[in-house]
Amino acid sequence: MVGPSRRMGGRLARRPRGTIMTRRLGALCALAVLAGIAADARGEGGAGKRRRPLPPEYGRVLLGEAGQGRMAPVAFDHWLHRARYTCRLCHVDIGFAMKAGATGIKPADNEAGYFCGACHDGKRTVDGRRIFEACGAGGERQACQRCHAVGLPVKPGTDFAAFARGLPRGRFGNGIDWEKAELDGQLKLVDELEGISIKRQSLTAQKDFALSPKLAGMPEIIFSHAKHTVWSGCEGCHPDIFVGVKRGATRYTMVEIFEGKYCGACHTSVAFPTLDCQRCHTRLVK
Ligand code: HEC
Ligand code: HEC
Ligand code: HEC
Ligand code: HEC
Ligand code: HEC
Ligand code: HEC
Repeated sequence: MVGPSRRMGGRLARRPRGTIMTRRLGALCALAVLAGIAADARGEGGAGKRRRPLPPEYGRVLLGEAGQGRMAPVAFDHWLHRARYTCRLCHVDIGFAMKAGATGIKPADNEAGYFCGACHDGKRTVDGRRIFEACGAGGERQACQRCHAVGLPVKPGTDFAAFARGLPRGRFGNGIDWEKAELDGQLKLVDELEGISIKRQSLTAQKDFALSPKLAGMPEIIFSHAKHTVWSGCEGCHPDIFVGVKRGATRYTMVEIFEGKYCGACHTSVAFPTLDCQRCHTRLVK
């Protein structure tokens, strides 16, 4: 699927100057092909593929799914955690990988105050409550099931529908416009954790800039450093995702984004998904 479409994208992109009409048509065909790839990547394609996740499931990571453990697997929900903490805090300071399963979390790590245990230590508080403990020998048995709950009839502590009701609506993903919720001050994100985060000096964000898709007629993307830095700091993207010390230095295509690289590292599984074409391709090119 990816091979031929990539070639097709390339052919369309390299096509010599045509009339506006043929260029528009070219752009439309490429869009149709790319939208197909997007649907495939999100599992909306044919039989046997994964279905598109429901709003509460978007950004859910299943841990310990292999089923060899003694405990039921764990479902980690991004919506619940990103409502309180920045991506940077977890993915840089605490050190979770941005790839499902890649961290290799062990109960002993949690008990020693790493990974989930950095917060779920039975001591730190949130809204005046102690955050329940992870995997500790001293932990209460019932509390185990607040995490080790996949396949068990456990009622979640926070109801997604009630949580989402108060927040601005988004079209895809969790059905929440996270950007607006943060901007309006409905979310107060914690960016540092005492005893875990090292004091950072804050860097000034670059000015917003336009990224031009390599296809005539395709609306440009306005990339906002300031808006991204709120969630990701600088380390969330540089140097792992964008080596970028100079704009245009990193070359990538929409197909790679659909595959989960570059912008797709976040915009296929946690931030609003690539299906939402217009949210990135905002500026019409004349
Ligand atoms: C804050 C969430 C959380 C809580 C609460 C929690 N765990 Fe865990 N636990 C995890 C994660 C994440 C893993 C790693 C994924 C996996 O292997 O299931 C894990 C793994 C384990 C494992 C190794 C895998 C297995 O299934 O054998 C054991 C044993 C374990 N936990 C025991 C416990 C016990 C006992 C409790 C209650 C006293 C508990 N955990 C409470 C998050 C939690
Ligand atoms: C409370 C901690 C926490 C916060 C906050 C957090 N994450 Fe994660 N994230 C995790 C954990 C845990 C995993 C799973 C790691 C593993 O399985 O090894 C994960 C996995 C991911 C993945 C891989 C998902 C997949 O299906 O492969 C992406 C992408 C990601 N996070 C992006 C983000 C973004 C973007 C934000 C901010 C909007 C964010 N995370 C906020 C803890 C967090
Ligand atoms: C940066 C801090 C932080 C980290 C790291 C973190 N959590 Fe949480 N988690 C919280 C807070 C705060 C809550 C809300 C607790 C409350 O409402 O009492 C929560 C709630 C939860 C809940 C909801 C339980 C319920 O009954 O509603 C689950 C499940 C959970 N976390 C699992 C995990 C797992 C698994 C990990 C590690 C992979 C993890 N968390 C890492 C802070 C964190
Ligand atoms: C969400 C990802 C993301 C975050 C977070 C981020 N950047 Fe960037 N940055 C980019 C992208 C994308 C480019 C363009 C790269 C390219 O075209 O090769 C870029 C380019 C740059 C450039 C080159 C700009 C130019 O005009 O040539 C600098 C300098 C830079 N970033 C610094 C920072 C700093 C400082 C921070 C934190 C305040 C930061 N970035 C946070 C994604 C990010
Ligand atoms: C490190 C993770 C990450 C990467 C990489 C990333 N984003 Fe984002 N982006 C986010 C998060 C988190 C938000 C907040 C909204 C949400 O979660 O849905 C966001 C919001 C946005 C928004 C809406 C806010 C605005 O600026 O108007 C746009 C557009 C956007 N991203 C485009 C891009 C583009 C284009 C790239 C690649 C050049 C990119 N993003 C790379 C995490 C990321
Ligand atoms: C997260 C932001 C984001 C979303 C969402 C997004 N794009 Fe893109 N798109 C980009 C960026 C950034 C480029 C620029 C890549 C380049 O050419 O340097 C691009 C480039 C393109 C191109 C130019 C050709 C190519 O392969 O690079 C096309 C066509 C395109 N996108 C179509 C789409 C379609 C169709 C959708 C919706 C199904 C979509 N895009 C959703 C960010 C996004």
